[in-house]
Amino acid sequence: MCGIVGYVGERDAVPVLLEGLRRLEYRGYDSAGIAVQTPDGLGWRKSVGRLTELEQALAANELHGRPGIGHTRWATHGEPSTTNSHPHLDGTGRIAVVHNGIIENYQALRDALGACGHTFQSDTDTEVLPHLIEAELAQGAPDSETALRQALQQARGAYALGVLFADQPDTVYAARLGSPLIVGIGDGEYFIASDVPAIVKHIREVIYLNDGEIAVLTPDGVTVKNLEGEVIEHKRHPVAIAPEAAERAGFETFMLKEIHEQPRVLRSLLESHLTDTDRVHIPDIGFSDDYFQLLRRIMIVSCGTAYHAAMYGKFLLEHLTGLAVETDLGSEFRYRSPRIERDTLFVAVSQSGETADTLASLRLAREMKCKVCSICNVVGSSLVRESDSILYTEAGPEIGVASTKAYTAQLLAFALFSIHVGRARGELSDARAAALVKALAAVPDAIHYVLERADRIRAIADKHHDGPSALYLGRRFNYPTALEGALKNKEISYQHAEGYAAGEMKHGPIALINEYMPVICVCTQTDDEVYDKMISNVREVEARHGRIIALATDGDRQVADLAEDIIYVPPISEEFSPLVNVVALQLLAYYAAQARGTDIDKPRNLAKSVTVE
Ligand code: AGP
Repeated sequence: MCGIVGYVGERDAVPVLLEGLRRLEYRGYDSAGIAVQTPDGLGWRKSVGRLTELEQALAANELHGRPGIGHTRWATHGEPSTTNSHPHLDGTGRIAVVHNGIIENYQALRDALGACGHTFQSDTDTEVLPHLIEAELAQGAPDSETALRQALQQARGAYALGVLFADQPDTVYAARLGSPLIVGIGDGEYFIASDVPAIVKHIREVIYLNDGEIAVLTPDGVTVKNLEGEVIEHKRHPVAIAPEAAERAGFETFMLKEIHEQPRVLRSLLESHLTDTDRVHIPDIGFSDDYFQLLRRIMIVSCGTAYHAAMYGKFLLEHLTGLAVETDLGSEFRYRSPRIERDTLFVAVSQSGETADTLASLRLAREMKCKVCSICNVVGSSLVRESDSILYTEAGPEIGVASTKAYTAQLLAFALFSIHVGRARGELSDARAAALVKALAAVPDAIHYVLERADRIRAIADKHHDGPSALYLGRRFNYPTALEGALKNKEISYQHAEGYAAGEMKHGPIALINEYMPVICVCTQTDDEVYDKMISNVREVEARHGRIIALATDGDRQVADLAEDIIYVPPISEEFSPLVNVVALQLLAYYAAQARGTDIDKPRNLAKSVTVE
């Protein structure tokens, strides 16, 4: 989604804004622009396409000044074009606005402003904002800040804003309602940004703005107010991310770096949740054992990859806690009539903590008086702030649009949570819980084993990448693995892919199988009948001459005899095998995308954090 950066300080704002926008590229965008104060009023440049286009526009027509605001736009209202790019200006060219979100009543506002003589250049909802501010000033608002507040009181919908006035030197305004925005505090410099990694190397502290707040940034500091103009005291949080976390560290892409970070991320998440005696300990869970004993039901809601984690969470919680567990997609849950009672625990899962549909579902659950626990990666995000309890995934910034380390960290969070709840409810004995912890502890090394064999996976991807479609099959705990493997492939290689529960294949997708169709079968060994059933499904594919690519446990001859190509993973317990298996599928998608020549970190049309529904 759109990205915002703003800068107040002594430096020329232009390079600072460009660098910040570059670090926000991963969020997804199709045009970009900046505005700065110059001695002659506001100066701005905009362009369609990547930031290099904007840099070329700046090289052709230089711009310098301070302070400034910048924006990467992911088109919602109006096609990607220079006119529709931000910043948008008022009729006098003295007020510039960058915006993330949607002004839902923009048409009514535009009509009313149009009737008063305002003319609009773009198709965007955003453009009404500078005109509204202009109108408030024309109607007697005593200063820019009051005009901004009065304008925002008329806007419905969601926004994160950066606003620059030609007549107010050294000042940037920021405002937030429903879309993420932070204020960064450096040494005599102040920033706004859609997220911390964009400005991490310049700042020491962060203020997480709340909905309905306006921040005024000047060289003297930051003041936060509400829409009535009352000053609000805000806690400043130290920056918890190391600046190197937002760098590629020698990897060709952020996605590859993040795939390779998984053993370290999972090991550290595990260590922070195990006691000296290797018992699961979730310090901030916030619910007593009594609460879990009386609990009747869990409802897990999320979107995309996080929804696949939710499905895994459901299977594992049912398996280890005896609770009834349901899942739903955020975009569905919020528009059906969910029957959840107050004794249901609502679990929201999100890497970013800003996904609009997940947040809206959480708010619905709160209205129904449910307790809310969130599994989230981003400290200070909206989801975190609106939850009763948080289980952080502690994966560090995830910059690649396709989620990898955040997903396996979500799976591990569910594993820890399930063991905790299973113990609290008396469903798991000490011995069983200890055996599960031991099996979990083997996961980071098993992932390392897969990563060490990346070349073999690359060779398989090179062989199969050019077909029009691929089918991914898995069962039980690895059914979500099949869905996630297919999603990764679609997202970054643009090859059509379907994930299916293997037992469901003969109810439809089997019609797709012919001698050209790659079928990726997750058939790692288990001690029970699921493995045998999976082998039967693989035989069904074989009988129709499908091209079987199998994910199998090291040394499994039975699968080797059936498959055209095989990716081995080390033996791992069935419950936790998805954490290892999915890494092989991430790599398979990665190398297929590389062979197909796509822009892996910034796949077309996708946004990292989907802050509009
Ligand atoms: C992951 O690869 C995707 N880009 C996407 O499905 C993502 O998981 C989804 O948008 C949810 O995001 P969240 O975890 O930040 O809520």
